[in-house]
Amino acid sequence: MKGVILAGGLGSRLHPLTKITNKHLLPVHSQPMIYYPIQALINAGIEDIMIVTGGNSAGDFLKLLGNGKDFGLKHVNYTYQEGEGGIADALSLVEHFADEDPICVILGDNLIEKNIKAAADEYRAQGRGAKIMLKRVHDPERFGVPELDGEKVLNIEEKPNEPKSDFAVIGIYFYDNTVFDVIRTLVPSGRGELEITDVNNHYIRRGEMTWNELDGWWTDAGTFESLLRASNLVAETGANNL
Ligand code: DAU
Repeated sequence: MKGVILAGGLGSRLHPLTKITNKHLLPVHSQPMIYYPIQALINAGIEDIMIVTGGNSAGDFLKLLGNGKDFGLKHVNYTYQEGEGGIADALSLVEHFADEDPICVILGDNLIEKNIKAAADEYRAQGRGAKIMLKRVHDPERFGVPELDGEKVLNIEEKPNEPKSDFAVIGIYFYDNTVFDVIRTLVPSGRGELEITDVNNHYIRRGEMTWNELDGWWTDAGTFESLLRASNLVAETGANNL
């Protein structure tokens, strides 16, 4: 399985911090934000990694990460997303890299306390379709929210006014190589983006979506509140614990 980190977008919710640099280069406690999703992939046994960047300071990713020596990697792949066409638009750029293999996708502003090893192993055994990860939150309206019927996910709504559960779909996804065909069928949402939630709903309709509940804390870091919370959580417990 290959790994993809989506670190494009303009980070406009963090202006002026992101006026001159990329959100994923900002510090979260003691490390640049992008370090955390890289380590999360490595902890799941995924070492063939593509970083999709965009917006400001794209060259700084190379300066910071090079070929990933600090993480024990021999090579890191990079590509550039023009504009801010959405998470699924950024993902569409890695079709060549995936080259028919399954992929684990992590949003570059998502941090976890523990690891996704068990979910990755389960997805490897699943062999096809997709897997999402859910976490109970007190503010589901900020996220993709699943409607569940027991173990079955019926549908996901993006930032609903009236959430149908108190789970968030976190920014870690497993897909087979049909994901790129799915993305080609998408149309931009109300916010003008190709939505990852629409991708996930395709797999749900096909009956090929599974989910796991994440163990340990999870946070995004794309707003002032969540950026501060991410730093505090890392300070308290550390992130990416095995
Ligand atoms: O954090 C989890 C949530 O992330 C999910 O629950 C939502 O379903 C999903 O849509 C997403 O919501 P956000 O609105 O918070 O996503 P945001 O626009 O902040 O983008 C998250 C990351 O995705 C960002 O750090 C970089 C990457 N991205 C985003 C966009 C819009 C790109 O690489 N390119 C893009 O064009």
